[in-house]
Amino acid sequence: MKNDFPEIDVVFDADTIADRIETLATEIADKLPDDVLIVVVLKGSFVFAADLLRGLDRAGMRPRVDFITLSSYGTRTESSGTVELTRDISEDVRGRSVMIVDDILDSGRTLAFATDLMTARGAESVHTCVLLDKHEKREVSIEADYIGFPVDDLFVVGYGIDMAHLFRSLPFIGVVRQG
Ligand code: IMP
Ligand code: MG
Repeated sequence: MKNDFPEIDVVFDADTIADRIETLATEIADKLPDDVLIVVVLKGSFVFAADLLRGLDRAGMRPRVDFITLSSYGTRTESSGTVELTRDISEDVRGRSVMIVDDILDSGRTLAFATDLMTARGAESVHTCVLLDKHEKREVSIEADYIGFPVDDLFVVGYGIDMAHLFRSLPFIGVVRQG
């Protein structure tokens, strides 16, 4: 695949991501109610969510969508350890089936925070979907219900995922070459 960014090695190209999302959307549509409320965790998952939502529509679902901004990284490449709620959803989740969508499951703190928040607010069910699962980095006991790809402990960028707010616009997922 053509890559105009010589400092970045491609890990998942655009076609591979698109194929996987289509399969994931079908799996989700088989299991979750058609009117599930999708809670997108910003900012990193905005591109994934946009593609996943259209896949869910093709699979026959009619979800509602809201956005929450959570932050644990700042501009560094290591998590600070505490999750901050920067911008809340506006939907009332009481009695609703919710699916949280995030880009990367790493230590697990972000997804655990979001899941606990929706549960505490009275959601009837809370499911989770992440594009990438860095399983070996887990510090909190949590697994996602739907996973795009497992990945090794690499700092990835592209397809919405940033390094210091750079590289979100890349159409593929890659790693920044060191040195
Ligand atoms: P956790 O709370 O440690 O699980 O971190 C999850 C969040 O950290 C993700 O939603 C990302 O925003 C960010 N993150 C984790 N790994 C990476 C990476 O490799 N590149 C960019 N952001 C990352
Ligand atoms: Mg994030």
